[in-house]
Amino acid sequence: MLIYKNTRRKQRIAEQERQIEIQKTEKLLKDQELTAIDAMISGQEKERQRLANELHDNLGSTLATVKLHFQHLTKNRNNSKIENLEELYAKTDHLLEEAYQKVRTIAHEKNSGVMANQGLLPAIKKFAKKASNGDALQIVVQDYGLEERLDNALEISIFRMIQELITNIIKHANATEVHISLTNHDSLLNIIIEDNGKGFDTKVISQKDGMGLRTIEKRIEHLEGTFEIDSTIGKGTNIIINIPI
Ligand SMILES: Nc1ncnc2c1ncn2[C@@H]1O[C@H](COP(=O)(O)OP(=O)(O)OP(=O)(O)O)[C@@H](O)[C@H]1O
Ligand SMILES: [Mg+2]
Repeated sequence: MLIYKNTRRKQRIAEQERQIEIQKTEKLLKDQELTAIDAMISGQEKERQRLANELHDNLGSTLATVKLHFQHLTKNRNNSKIENLEELYAKTDHLLEEAYQKVRTIAHEKNSGVMANQGLLPAIKKFAKKASNGDALQIVVQDYGLEERLDNALEISIFRMIQELITNIIKHANATEVHISLTNHDSLLNIIIEDNGKGFDTKVISQKDGMGLRTIEKRIEHLEGTFEIDSTIGKGTNIIINIPI
């Protein structure tokens, strides 16, 4: 009787310890998600601020000067006595050229991928790196043609979906390898998440009360994309997402 009680107690303690471990992992992942989203938003905020400053300080002052010269020219267009009319035309022309070059520079900076280091891809890579666990779980992220930033809300939505799928792999799959690829095919973003874990029967998930996959389905529906799960028990799971961007 006593032995039986002790065994039950030990089992209970072991189960409690396992639950605590799971809670710790979930908290860690949530914290990392929040940090990554914060970094992404603050990166985008900073970038907007930088652009706003650049427009205001740089381009704004040049255009204000052009406007002043132009008003002066308009006012004096029939005044032959004014001496420096030619000079003012040349100056205005020069300033317009300068403004045009400034717009080009700002636009090129935006497209050069300099800002991308604070966007979706780095956030996913960072999250994948943190969720990887030496030889026990390796998460590899590959990307093609995603040099340009996407819309802020879209980036966050995609990040949340990938974060949930990685969390699912950690929680349920018992996998050792995960491959994530993000490919931009002519304005269609293709995301594939592949794990070599235990797989699951996709027909029975609707009866469970998990929120993750259902939320992803809703998000993708909203984005007018497609979502496909291809899972084989004992082999692993492939998740294929296509989103128009
Ligand atoms: N990569 C995976 N490998 C094996 N099983 C998976 C995988 N992804 C999901 N599952 C199974 O699908 C179920 C549904 O996943 P879902 O994300 O909707 O819910 P959950 O993770 O159980 O709970 P929640 O996301 O609400 O915390 C899981 O309970 C799990 O059984
Ligand atoms: Mg889940």
